[in-house]
Amino acid sequence: MSTITASAPAKLILCGEHAVVYGRPAIALPLVGIRARAEIAPGQPGSGISILARDLRRRWRVADDPGHPLSELITSTLAHYGAPGSTPDLRITIKSTIPIASGMGSGAAVATALVRALAVYLDRDLPPEAISALVYASEQRFHGTPSGIDNTVIAYEQPIWFIRQSSLPAVSSQLQEASNNEQRTIEPITIAAPFTLLIGDTGVRSATREPVGHVRQRWQADPARYEALFDQIGRLVTKARSLLAQGDLASLGPLLSQNHILLQQAGVSAPELDALVAAAQQAGVLGAKLSGAGWGGVILALVAPEHQNAVAHALRQAGAKRVIATTVREHFV
Ligand code: MEV
Repeated sequence: MSTITASAPAKLILCGEHAVVYGRPAIALPLVGIRARAEIAPGQPGSGISILARDLRRRWRVADDPGHPLSELITSTLAHYGAPGSTPDLRITIKSTIPIASGMGSGAAVATALVRALAVYLDRDLPPEAISALVYASEQRFHGTPSGIDNTVIAYEQPIWFIRQSSLPAVSSQLQEASNNEQRTIEPITIAAPFTLLIGDTGVRSATREPVGHVRQRWQADPARYEALFDQIGRLVTKARSLLAQGDLASLGPLLSQNHILLQQAGVSAPELDALVAAAQQAGVLGAKLSGAGWGGVILALVAPEHQNAVAHALRQAGAKRVIATTVREHFV
């Protein structure tokens, strides 16, 4: 066997995070230039499977830590698609340039790269929905109540409109999956005009399950208030989709900023995120918001190309540890 490598991209939620957990739509984008990689090489005979996670500076054998999320994912992928009863001898190395716990889907990207590499090793041509389902099952075990949007956008690697609708009937769509008895609507979105986003990283790390759990508690304590907030976010995301289809970026910007205010009201922003959003707005962006679960991680700013350098500078001045520019198109080639 020769060494196998596979990769998967980071992701960004353009709008609709948190409300998407409660059945409202969200729009997510892959960041194809920022990737997690998994490498599989033959191990010593009888050694079983070992994992080296470079960024975590950790090495372990699956047999010694079977409950680790990556160990479980390997075991469940081999159980689904491998030869029954055999444990191969493999050295798996994981590397990633995606900042951890930053709202950019690093965990789902690592998991997707790993499943893709295992699929090559097993000589299986797994479609995106099969890969996404394995990663989703893993996210569910370790992240509480994920909507499934992260694993989906990463597996499909294209901008998507996503609705988790546990009780609604399936709506016809070009891309659709059903797993774990939940229906999802997954549709490609039309992007009439490519646009530039600047991503500003606060450097504050926050595990997704913490703000997601906080929102759940607050929703349970005051369902009427939170349902109304999620409805407002859902309406805004629907509008954003049609503006993207029309190429009306000037109208899209204020919607993104409005989404940030609603996320503040939901209790998932943080002073560092608000500072970056404010700095971006003062520097002349079309709109800006936190992206992902919040409490840390990144903001995104929709910028006209001629303002990109000034906004990047303003974000760094306001404390961004890293600024990434990306151009979003309908299809990545
Ligand atoms: C995280 O990228 C997006 C959230 O909406 C959680 C989820 O959808 O699972 C905050």
